[in-house]
Amino acid sequence: MQLHGADIRGVPVDEQGIRLDALEEAIQLYRPRLLYTVPTFHNPTGVSMTAQRRNGLLSVAERHGLLIVEDDIYGPLSYEAKAPPPLKAGDAGGVVIYLTSFSKVLMPGLRIGLVVPPPALLDALVAEKRVADLHSPQLTQRALADYLARGQIAAHLRGVRALYRERRDAMIAALKRYFPPSACWTVPAGGLCLWVELPTGVHSTDLYLEAIERGVAFTPGEAFYADHPSTRHIRLAFARHEPATIARGVETLGALVHEHVARHSRVPAPSVRPLVPVV
Ligand SMILES: Cc1ncc(COP(=O)(O)O)c(C=O)c1O
Repeated sequence: MQLHGADIRGVPVDEQGIRLDALEEAIQLYRPRLLYTVPTFHNPTGVSMTAQRRNGLLSVAERHGLLIVEDDIYGPLSYEAKAPPPLKAGDAGGVVIYLTSFSKVLMPGLRIGLVVPPPALLDALVAEKRVADLHSPQLTQRALADYLARGQIAAHLRGVRALYRERRDAMIAALKRYFPPSACWTVPAGGLCLWVELPTGVHSTDLYLEAIERGVAFTPGEAFYADHPSTRHIRLAFARHEPATIARGVETLGALVHEHVARHSRVPAPSVRPLVPVV
């Protein structure tokens, strides 16, 4: 997006999804044309927007003439109740460009997705797609169409949901066991990752550099901010490894976090100088 000259601003999310007060403020300040959001099983936090927030977001967008790009790439990966309906399902005002893809549910290398735009934008999007790559490869599209026509995706999804649920639960159990009580994390009802808030004084990139030396990788939270990155968060992805490997990885990471907390508590606090007003 930046290569295309976009000026990108972040909007904070809480446990119910994007914060509408912060969004309204950003709209007043920056007059944005487009909002990109992952309302269901958000990457990196794992949070799903509540129904109330979704309705609120749609009315804010309609009121301000803001287009929303809804990336629903994780929707089918729900481990509790069924995922909430997409924003697009309530898009009476025609402000949502809906996107999804088979990358997360079937095969990352497939790179076949789909877009459901408001009708008025369809021709422009088709033209942009032609400029970007002429068209997606027909061979993989045919293979996917054949797979879908056989109805095999339902069974596949049942299988991966059970597998990923077990891995998510293994990660949560290991976090409870090995991380200090001053850390906290989200418990996502779907998707592929969760978001950990580290104890005070633990820096995510410092932790990362030491963790990879011990064979454990994660994504430092800084990677997920357009502006004002937090250095106290990390994203842990749970889909790739078996429960026993996840437990070992979190144990290693937890030991490192404990070490960092201990190191931080030994560093003397900076001496507090009295504030001297300039005027
Ligand atoms: C949130 C999100 N949306 C979209 C995509 C892109 O999907 P595709 O592989 O179909 O290009 C990715 C990564 O693959 C992703 O993480």
